[in-house]
Amino acid sequence: MKHYLSSLCFLFLFFLSANLQAQTTANYDKEVEALLAKMTIEEKVGQMVQLDLLTVAIPGKSPIQLDIPKLREALVTYKISSFINNGLGRALSLDEWRYVNKTIQDIIMKETPRKIPLLYGIDAIHGTTFTLEATLFPQSIALGATRNPELVHRAAEITAMETRASGHRWNFSPVLDVARQPLWARLPESYGEDPYLVSILGAAAIRGMQGKDLGAPTAVAACMKHFMAYSFPFNGKDRSPALMPEYYLREYFLPPFRAAVKAGARTLMVNSGEVNGVPLHGNKYLLTTVLRGELGFQGIIVSDYGDIIRLHTWQGIAETPKEAVRVAVDAGLDMSMVPTDYSFNTLLTELVKEGKVAEKRIDESVRRILKLKYETGLFKNPYLEKEALKNFGKPEYRQTALDAANEVMTLLKNTDNTLPLAKDRKVLVVGPGANSITTLNGCWSYTWQGNEPQWYPKNALTIAGAVREKIGAAQVTYRQGVDFSGKAIDVDQAVADAQNVDVVLLCLGEDAYAETPGDINELDLPVGQQELAKKLYATGKTVILVLTEGRGRIIREIEPQAKGILLAYWPGIEGARAIANVIFGDVNPSGKLPYTYTQHSGNLLTYDRKLTNKLNEISAPGEFKIDTFGPQYEFGYGLSYTTFDFKNLKLSAPTLKGSGKILVSIEVTNTGKREGKEVVELYSHDLFASLTQPLRRLRAFKKINLKPGETSTVGFEITKDDLAFVNGVNQTVTEPGDFEIIIGQLKANVRYAE
Ligand code: BGC
Repeated sequence: MKHYLSSLCFLFLFFLSANLQAQTTANYDKEVEALLAKMTIEEKVGQMVQLDLLTVAIPGKSPIQLDIPKLREALVTYKISSFINNGLGRALSLDEWRYVNKTIQDIIMKETPRKIPLLYGIDAIHGTTFTLEATLFPQSIALGATRNPELVHRAAEITAMETRASGHRWNFSPVLDVARQPLWARLPESYGEDPYLVSILGAAAIRGMQGKDLGAPTAVAACMKHFMAYSFPFNGKDRSPALMPEYYLREYFLPPFRAAVKAGARTLMVNSGEVNGVPLHGNKYLLTTVLRGELGFQGIIVSDYGDIIRLHTWQGIAETPKEAVRVAVDAGLDMSMVPTDYSFNTLLTELVKEGKVAEKRIDESVRRILKLKYETGLFKNPYLEKEALKNFGKPEYRQTALDAANEVMTLLKNTDNTLPLAKDRKVLVVGPGANSITTLNGCWSYTWQGNEPQWYPKNALTIAGAVREKIGAAQVTYRQGVDFSGKAIDVDQAVADAQNVDVVLLCLGEDAYAETPGDINELDLPVGQQELAKKLYATGKTVILVLTEGRGRIIREIEPQAKGILLAYWPGIEGARAIANVIFGDVNPSGKLPYTYTQHSGNLLTYDRKLTNKLNEISAPGEFKIDTFGPQYEFGYGLSYTTFDFKNLKLSAPTLKGSGKILVSIEVTNTGKREGKEVVELYSHDLFASLTQPLRRLRAFKKINLKPGETSTVGFEITKDDLAFVNGVNQTVTEPGDFEIIIGQLKANVRYAE
């Protein structure tokens, strides 16, 4: 009975809230329609324009100063809708942001007839990038290693609060590009190489950022990007062409966007590149038929930086700039990140007046934009909210950044349990990463490239600083050895210093970079860095390798002699403390690789390869060896200071029928001496199918914490959707037949029958 009453109560609340939601939407619809009815074509087109703030800022001023006549031109003459600040070159203080916000909104409120507030969009990619003293979390690729959606959710909530406190209500995040090209310079912005992993963590970030109410002073609208297949450039270079059949596109690159639409993402940014010869900015099939039609996306589609005009200037699918605008709007774009002129205003206005773009079509875009402005509360209060400001820079945010960085740490090697080190060891901290704050944070860190240390908080520690804090400065020597390019700085002194310590912490990797400036021609770690390692090995001292890098640079030559290898990725503002925590045993590492760590540049496979990717015909014709995959380390790999045993993999039934479900369970025991976290990953393998299938693909994961000796039974519910794949005619199907369920080294078979 009690149960019955609570169900009734639940139903009542459900209808009430559904009704409330419906009412809110309906109210905005009415207001949007009323406003739209009054707007001129120029005003409507202006709502579709986004400019870089540098267009209206006086160059080189500190504190920032806006050029008022230019700002008036943007807001009053051209009625533009939105600013971004990709090109400003540095982060601003909260006071500077308050000035920017007030100056802009004042002009709109006092000098424009409709008083449509400006929506400021910004890249807060791993924390609030463009505000001084904001909290920076590990990059997404690092968060991928945590396999922890709650952590991603919390980091996104804090990012939203600090972004809103800076006066911005729109964040160009998360990146949902699946990292399947190891060379790609934006790999660090992705959650990993597996579409399921990216879907789960991407959706968690969106929910965290947007909260329950976009109008709340804690929330920002998310922007899923970059739609789509941006992360699979054929030659590994940023913004270059991708080539793939549609089934592959749907199998590996569409799922995170589908999950993001379900999670309620309000906006989407388009891939700057092209797929199968069609630039995404002109791709009506993908933007309108697939994204709007199939996925049901109703939010704003924004271009990437300057990419509409590039349909003409770079990609040559439009004969004139005007044709480029027509093609993009026809394909489905709602807003142009122009970024620094009024060409889009002029050209689109002309196109509407000439009847080449229907006014009805631009009304659709303007509706979406106005709706988001209502939803984010801008019409109620366009100014930086006092309530929002209270949420900036709380001490607990740095604690979350540290918790996240601790979980990121991925221990790849630990010969003879060399790690953790005792705290009485004398240590040489050496290498280009040893005293660098920028290699801990990477791209989008107070600047676009993230490589200018002067903008970082003064209290942010480098690895050398964190090791000193951990074991006392007297035990620590620091040398750079070489720079990130491998150029020698003080190699001889470094080698001499190594003689006087117990252990060498060799910090190698990549300095910060973003987008095309991060393009590389070799995946190998620069030769000079590897030479430094070899010279230090030659001293006979114990060498531990600490890698801070955006993508997995090849370390094949220097891997064998390292006694320990810790992959820290770009772990954020508290990353150095997390590294020291793991090295000296205050934290038990639990990170798992979010990508396949490449061993040979001629073998760039992802973990979900096929049997035929691995076959190698050896000495005699017809004799095959299955060993040619050979990554340095596999996706999902990562050691702990304790050990875990997996046993008793069980299925609740041998056959999965129709739309039923089966339960998969496994017992996991901590068989070591330390408490530790373990990720239980469930993979499936479709044994016979109409298209060749990967040997395994991730279908579910759970992270658990176990005390020494403790056992936990981990359960997963599997339906036919969890065994599906995209077939040769681009449908997502589960074909009847046998499947392997794989957890750890254990396998069990299940049969699916319709
Ligand atoms: C990047 C986007 C970013 C935009 C605005 C572009 O260069 O590709 O990811 O959101 O700039 O800063």
